[in-house]
Parts: sequence; structure tokens; C-alpha cells
Amino acid sequence: MRIILLGPPGAGKGTQAQFIKERLGIPQISTGDMLRSAVASGSALGERVKAVMDSGALVSDDIIIDLVKDRIQHDDCANGFLFDGFPRTIPQAKAMTSAGVEIDAVVEIQVPEDELVQRITGRRVHPGSGRIYHLIYSPPKVDGQDDETGEALVQREDDTEETVRERLAVYKEQTEPLVEYYHAMERQGLRYIAVDGQGEVAAIQAAIAEALESSQS
Ligand code: AP5
Repeated sequence: MRIILLGPPGAGKGTQAQFIKERLGIPQISTGDMLRSAVASGSALGERVKAVMDSGALVSDDIIIDLVKDRIQHDDCANGFLFDGFPRTIPQAKAMTSAGVEIDAVVEIQVPEDELVQRITGRRVHPGSGRIYHLIYSPPKVDGQDDETGEALVQREDDTEETVRERLAVYKEQTEPLVEYYHAMERQGLRYIAVDGQGEVAAIQAAIAEALESSQS
């Protein structure tokens, strides 16, 4: 299956992606994680995108489209993939259509803005595995340490309240138009699944699983 996870910053895309990819046996393709790896490695790409990411703006479409087109050629994508944080603009979505990439389902996770700010400012991550925690909603067993490795958790550089507000504004302006774009593709067989992203992580997982399974049958 080829699935897109859509939703504003902090909606829980990364949290739910970890479960969907295991359940369906498809890779998670997170453009945010790919860009953060490039920044951490000090590559030329990382140097080009760091300031943009820290400001909360979007990286240019041509960079992102090239990254994704290359990634989906890998063998592990043969049976599908889960896009997390991509596409983020109409040109990114159109680039996939032009490349002949047919999407089976879009899962939109809906969360009100005030909750998003709390979620993002309290988020901590384990850089090695991508495991995601929250200081209040999903704390690690030992303060500041990853549950499985004991390694230190970090706060993302773009997870300040000021940058979050900018990211939410960018989402509204540049990414939200994709809701209508993909609804229009339901006529061509795409399945659009909107889920309430508030409440227990496990309950949201169950709602997504049920909707995806009914779309396969
Ligand atoms: P990216 O890394 O994609 O960030 P994002 O879309 O802003 O999304 P987040 O990772 O912030 O949130 P999420 O929805 O994954 O939430 P999470 O599960 O972590 O992008 C970062 C930057 O890279 C962009 O700003 C841009 O510059 C660039 N970029 C990336 N892709 C791009 C593209 N395609 N085009 C151009 N530029 C691009 O959850 C958040 C917190 O909430 C966690 O602490 C979690 O524990 C908690 N939580 C999750 N679920 C629940 C729940 N049900 N209840 C309570 N807490 C919860």
C-alpha cells in the first residue's frame, strides 16, 4: 500500500507511523527525518537546509522532490511505503502524480492548534531510533533517557514555541490545500481517511488500523 500521513506539526504523524509501518511491513519515508540526518552528517544538502528548517519554513520543492523520487526507487519500497510529512505542497503532490506514483490512501490526523503547541514544546526524541516521547503525555521510564538504549533524549531545534507558531502558519498556507486536493482524488479510487488525533495513542492506532483494513477489503 502507498499511504500518505497528513496533518499539522505535532499531530502525531511520526508516532502513528512507527506503528503503521510495522503493521503493514512498509517503510516509513519521513522527509523531516531525512533532512535532519543530512544536517547531522554535515553534508552539502544539510548545510543548505539547516537555516530554513530552524526558521520553521519549508525546504524548496525541488530538493524534496529529488530526495523522495530517489528514495522510492529502493528495493524496500517495492510493496509500498508510508509518506510522513510529504507531500507538503501542491507542487510536491503533483510531482508524484507526474512520476506515475499512485497513492492508495491518505490518513489525515486532526488536532486543534492549542494542543499542537503543547505537544511539540514537550516532545523529546531519541535521535538514533526516532522514538518519540512527551514530557507529560508519553514520558520515558527514566527522565531524559531512551527506554531501550538508555541514551540521552534531545529536543529538536525547531521545537520552540516561536518556531512552532511559524510552522503552524506555514501548514495552513501551504499544506492544508492538500486536504481538498486529495479529497478530489477520491473519485479516482483514492481512500481519504480523517481521524481524530486527540486521545490515547493506542485508540488512534486502532481507528487508523480499522480504516486501512476496511479500505483493503
Ligand atoms: P517534520 O519533521 O516533518 O515535522 P512536522 O511535520 O512539523 O511534524 P512533527 O514531526 O513536528 O510532528 P508529528 O506530526 O510527526 O508529531 P509526533 O508524532 O512527533 O518537518 C520538519 C521540518 O523539515 C519542516 O518544518 C520543514 O522545514 C522540513 N520539511 C520536512 N518535510 C518537508 C517537505 N515535504 N517539504 C518541505 N520541507 C520539509 O508527536 C508530537 C508530540 O506529541 C510527541 O511528543 C508525541 O509523544 C506527542 N503525541 C503524539 N500523539 C499524541 C496523543 N495522541 N496524545 C498526546 N500526545 C501525543
